[in-house]
Amino acid sequence: MIEFHYNFPTRIIFGENKIDEISNLITPFGNKVLIICGSKSNQASGTLERLQKLLTSHNISFTVFEGVTTNPTEEIIKSGATKLKESKSDLIISIGGGSVHDAAKAINLSLSHEDKLIDYTVTGKHSVPGIKNELLPLITIPTITGTGAEISPASLVRLNLQKHIIFSPFLFPFASIYDISVMTCSERSTISKVGIDAFFQGLEAYLAKNSNPFSDKFALEAIKNSILYLPALSKQPDDLKAKSYVALSALDSLLGVSNSGVGAIHALSDPLSGRYNIHHGVAQTIVAKGILSYYKSIKLPKLKLLEDELVKLITPLHKSFPKDIIAQYEWFLEKLDVNITEDLEILRAKKVDMYKLTEESQNPDMATAPVELTSDIIENIFHNSIK
Ligand SMILES: [Fe+2]
Repeated sequence: MIEFHYNFPTRIIFGENKIDEISNLITPFGNKVLIICGSKSNQASGTLERLQKLLTSHNISFTVFEGVTTNPTEEIIKSGATKLKESKSDLIISIGGGSVHDAAKAINLSLSHEDKLIDYTVTGKHSVPGIKNELLPLITIPTITGTGAEISPASLVRLNLQKHIIFSPFLFPFASIYDISVMTCSERSTISKVGIDAFFQGLEAYLAKNSNPFSDKFALEAIKNSILYLPALSKQPDDLKAKSYVALSALDSLLGVSNSGVGAIHALSDPLSGRYNIHHGVAQTIVAKGILSYYKSIKLPKLKLLEDELVKLITPLHKSFPKDIIAQYEWFLEKLDVNITEDLEILRAKKVDMYKLTEESQNPDMATAPVELTSDIIENIFHNSIK
């Protein structure tokens, strides 16, 4: 029996220089905008200045809130919400990586929802039904892609040293502009660690217990294009074809997970990011091999299916592509620059609390894992991943 429901209200504008059309999206809502961005990279690349010039030329006034960091905290959200309130904006534009879009959604929520942010998380006292349709329209402009945060109805925030998810259908951005001319990141390691999330999301969407033939199409595309194009982009950051396909894989991965959910790789990575502020892509890389090896040991049928699909899809283009799923994953990872060593050393030096990590892995991301992972299994995976 095939079962799924599909709702995707975000308008996607994909292509080079599409940012030039942004005023058409803004003017139906007004002429005052809050721009939310990260640190100095947008300024350095000239993207923020380009956006400001575009807005000025269309008589749209703007206020800028900058300084959003990876794994955004309540402090950042609060100061962004104050800026949003003072600016009396009609609309929000977030420009940057996943954390910037996550922060923008939480800032937007804070404007009209006055209780503490933790109350609106999926495990909070208001949870999903407590979020009302009172949010400002949000336009996202990803400058690097991987998480799909730019089109998702979720905001991932770091509260009280834990990663929390705020989710609501009202958090869907109104529009997202995938413009490769503003995706200017040239750092190999950043491209790799951000981009690998699309691969993990595709992988988990494909393996998830709620996966279905509809989500599988997106998930498989995300996995395939990540394997084919993320190594190429991290090697050659100005390769436009690779950049387009990496952006497409982020989009596909999010369409996959929004229909089937994620699983253990995300669930185990969450406490690593929440407790130790480890980058999402790095945290997933730390635990992924252990989780895939466990799935292989229990002969998870969908994993075998994926192994065969990947041989069919990748081998015609890369003769050296292995036949075994773990070797396939390692073949892909070797071609990237995801540095887990530094964070592993920090974790080892801190003598992490395995019990807490295990306990906090039983979070909402685990709900759609293909099989139940007991505490013993989780602790074992952490132990082997960090030792
Ligand atoms: Fe993710």
